[in-house]
Amino acid sequence: MSDIKKIAIMTGGGDCPGLNPVIRAVVKTAILKYGLEVVGIRHGYHGLYHGDFVNLGLDDVQEIISKGGTILYSSNKDNLFKYPVRDEKGDIVKDAEGNIVYEDVSDVGVENLKKAGIDALFILGGDGTLTSGRDFARKGVNVIGIPKTIDNDLAFTDYTFGFDTAIGVATDGLDRVRTTGMSHHRIMVVEIMGRGAGWMTLHAGIAGAADVILIPEIPYDINKVAEKIKEDKANGKEFSIVAVSEGAKSLTGEQVILKVREDSPDPIRLGGVGSVVADKLEELVGSEARATTLGHIQRGGSPTVHDRVLSSRYGYAAVELAMKGGFGRMVALQGDKITSVSLEDVIGQQTKNVTPDNELVTLAKAMGVCFGD
Ligand code: F6P
Repeated sequence: MSDIKKIAIMTGGGDCPGLNPVIRAVVKTAILKYGLEVVGIRHGYHGLYHGDFVNLGLDDVQEIISKGGTILYSSNKDNLFKYPVRDEKGDIVKDAEGNIVYEDVSDVGVENLKKAGIDALFILGGDGTLTSGRDFARKGVNVIGIPKTIDNDLAFTDYTFGFDTAIGVATDGLDRVRTTGMSHHRIMVVEIMGRGAGWMTLHAGIAGAADVILIPEIPYDINKVAEKIKEDKANGKEFSIVAVSEGAKSLTGEQVILKVREDSPDPIRLGGVGSVVADKLEELVGSEARATTLGHIQRGGSPTVHDRVLSSRYGYAAVELAMKGGFGRMVALQGDKITSVSLEDVIGQQTKNVTPDNELVTLAKAMGVCFGD
């Protein structure tokens, strides 16, 4: 048993349904089972750097299990190991070549934790946030990681919380555009989030009965997609549903980039491939094609029952792990069991991606779905 008395919890990266249920489970388990003090760090690593700490009690986590977002706020731009230098006016400093100047300010974060008497730091995040988590663990901070991302692309865990809610929204999006597709005999293209991983599009595409599923892991030939739609048309199917990952790549390998946030550790924001695919299909097939981008709607709103339960399991397991002294580790779901894995392993590994021989790809192909390959 470790001699932990006071813990801190923070949320980093994009918001995600299930963050609040995890916070609730950590706070309740820590206080009710172990009598610990709990501190919330607001705005992720930004708050760690600036000492933006608040006490969290049982009252603070009442009525939050059904709420999306995070009561602690988040940031996806504050890597303390590579922090943009700012001038007195707060503007980012650039060198003569116009490149941003960075410094390592992680010691400030470590010092702030020490000053606040924090014995263990619970970090809820995806690969970017947990990479810093691993680096803080290397500096001697007692870190416990909890896997968050709608993309479900973290290695060593079967499911991250947030994924189930997001694929539910994406499936609903596919169901809804179907109405217009059928009424107007159109090709309806729906762009789904997920960065470089096709999990969301694959699951939603199957659940939403898409005719075409395009994911980053399987480069697509637009001519093959057009052929499939033409064939369906010839067989009397007058509309098509195309589910496309924001990170989908054509045979030439390019992704469609929406914008570059140069102050972010992960600067590429994907977006726009849905319109590119729709325009090309309209030209090749000769039917009207429309694109819908679901965007942040997929991350918003109330977490599903599945995510609330998974988040509660992760939050509880994270406190248990800390009380056993399992620092530098991330709680994980493997099969139906909650376990833990070293952050060194999780971060050392590539992100978890769909393989072309994945069971879901195989079954979708057997049912006539086109992946453009
Ligand atoms: O990682 C979660 C995610 O929603 C991705 O699916 C998406 O590419 C990205 O975040 C969008 O980030 P932002 O909210 O910063 O635009």
